Amino acid sequence: MRYAVFLFLTCTIVAGCEREAPTPAVTPAAASPVKESPAAPLPAVASMDEATLNAWAQKGKQVWQAKTCFMCHSLNGVPLAGPSPIGVWGSKQKLADGREVLVDEAYIRESILDPAAAITAGYTTQMVSFQGQITDEQIVAVTALFRTLKDGPAKAAPVPVVPPATGVSPR
Ligand code: HEC
Repeated sequence: MRYAVFLFLTCTIVAGCEREAPTPAVTPAAASPVKESPAAPLPAVASMDEATLNAWAQKGKQVWQAKTCFMCHSLNGVPLAGPSPIGVWGSKQKLADGREVLVDEAYIRESILDPAAAITAGYTTQMVSFQGQITDEQIVAVTALFRTLKDGPAKAAPVPVVPPATGVSPR
């Protein structure tokens, strides 16, 4: 009987100890912050390969809808309040103030964030800035969309590959 009581007490003590066991201390390793990958730099649209470009352009179409770009810029050549994005990538755009600018990533970005900085000739300042309403990633996506529209329907004919000039033969 004594033995049984002893055993009972021991069990109770052990169980109690277990219950009071302190939660394991957080080791420095576990406490160290989750290694967040530093925000990956966004790719430059001009140097995207075709597969990457098309993937981004797909996102761009969603942004186009979500951010209501479609209300003023049509993707099928129908004239709306804003200029058509078809065929402008890589071209020179005439501005209302007489300047000519290359339509590249920087210009498209500026047009979205600060539309009044460069007004496309023939248009007015109807576009409001999307500053604070569109992420850098979404701008890249829309820019990729512009690049895929580079050869709009009218210019889609394949360009013949001209072999490089061989130069003057030594003899
Ligand atoms: C309320 C109508 C309106 C909406 C919505 C709108 N735009 Fe515009 N956008 C314009 C007008 C008008 C111009 C021409 C005047 C100017 O340059 O600001 C323009 C110009 C541009 C240009 C310069 C194009 C060129 O060929 O010079 C880009 C790029 C552009 N918009 C992108 C966008 C994107 C991307 C969105 C959606 C996030 C958007 N716009 C939403 C009206 C709009």
